[in-house]
Amino acid sequence: MDLFKFDEESFARSFTRGTELEDADELEDGQLEPNTQDKNGTHDEVEEEETAFEGGRKLDDFEPIKVLGQGAYGKVHLVQDKRSGKLFAQKQLRKPIIKLRDQAEKDLAHSKQVRRTISERQILTELTHHPNIVKLFYAFQDNNKFYLILEYIPGGELFHHLASPLNKLGNVFQEDHAAFYAAEMALGLRYLHTLGIVYRDLKPENCLLNNAGHLVLTDFGLSKSIGNNAEDERCSSVIGTPEYMAPEVLKGEEYDFAVDWWSLGCVIYDMMVGKPPFTGRSHKIITDKVLTSKLKLPFYFTKDAKDLLNKLLNKNPLKRFDVDGKWETFQGHRFFRKINWKSLEAQSEDTVPPIVPVITDPKLAENFDDEFTTMKISDYNDDQGINIPISAEGRMINDDSEPFIGFSYNASNSYIEKYY
Ligand SMILES: Nc1ncnc2c1ncn2[C@@H]1O[C@H](COP(=O)(O)OP(=O)(O)O)[C@@H](O)[C@H]1O
Ligand SMILES: [Mg+2]
Repeated sequence: MDLFKFDEESFARSFTRGTELEDADELEDGQLEPNTQDKNGTHDEVEEEETAFEGGRKLDDFEPIKVLGQGAYGKVHLVQDKRSGKLFAQKQLRKPIIKLRDQAEKDLAHSKQVRRTISERQILTELTHHPNIVKLFYAFQDNNKFYLILEYIPGGELFHHLASPLNKLGNVFQEDHAAFYAAEMALGLRYLHTLGIVYRDLKPENCLLNNAGHLVLTDFGLSKSIGNNAEDERCSSVIGTPEYMAPEVLKGEEYDFAVDWWSLGCVIYDMMVGKPPFTGRSHKIITDKVLTSKLKLPFYFTKDAKDLLNKLLNKNPLKRFDVDGKWETFQGHRFFRKINWKSLEAQSEDTVPPIVPVITDPKLAENFDDEFTTMKISDYNDDQGINIPISAEGRMINDDSEPFIGFSYNASNSYIEKYY
């Protein structure tokens, strides 16, 4: 993979939203086995079925309301469950067109995206309730697409509030507000790390605010389960958004949980400056800066902010703040002096988030960019007869057929009732 190839389309995107580099990730064998065991840290009230082509939840059960966001390969829609009236966010991904006679035409990048969606579904079902992590309630597929039905987080992206005209400071947050969001991100990341999951895609547009203004991490398409023994199973694929990517990832070296703490440093910097610490006109320039430029912190940062960022943005992962290993030291850092971690974790009423999103009607999705919410819901339920042959048993016939099996997932009603 050419890390330094300049690609105009992704360059254009990188100014508004982070640009992802291509992923050399592999879905491990067996990763899609339906997980019905009550393992430590997995859903305890989950019913899983192979419902892909035999009933279970399906596209028709949900009424599309609006488009909330769009990635390179699929849209995220606000949908309403026709049975319960509940609102959900539906992430869909078109299946690649696979012509059996001409495998060479297979869209490789797209099939990597398929792997990410499958991996996202797998990782999300490994999680139990955590207030700072989005919940997956259903997953299903039809001939055209994969669908994830997620908890709808109506407060929109942190990115949106950072850049909002209502933000009197312009493009930045004041330090104690940045500390609040950083603390909630850290709670989510630490939870994932205790389950052996590296998040790998921390950036403002993957951080949503719920109706009370608490932060929720979404988008597990790049996350990876490496087990708790990071020594043995470190990842080495180049993945993520370059502006927020740790040096060891860009160098293609093996890496582990420390990459998320680097990204946290980048996002804290971004919240307080209005852009991430290493930026440039191309992936190559950004990469060079991440690898070699000395971190420059604005003079107006407090001593505490400078100290924390110098520790998180240490280019050497071995010298970087080991937040997982020194969690209490991290919580006790003066940057977080106004945070009551216990109340924050419990989201008790004495913890008032800096921004309480205005939600007059959750169906209006008023905290999401007009660019998306005014889009026509044209391809929500299109059937263009995509050519993926399916065998009598309902298996996809192509050389990626295995990963499609076991995609469908239904959280139990009690799980949904309890948390939604
Ligand atoms: N659960 C959700 N609730 C509300 N909006 C969401 C949700 N999940 C995603 N979105 C919106 O859709 C956008 C794209 O979703 P994401 O999962 O990040 O996809 P991609 O993998 O394409 O980046 C997000 O940045 C956010 O604006
Ligand atoms: Mg995303």
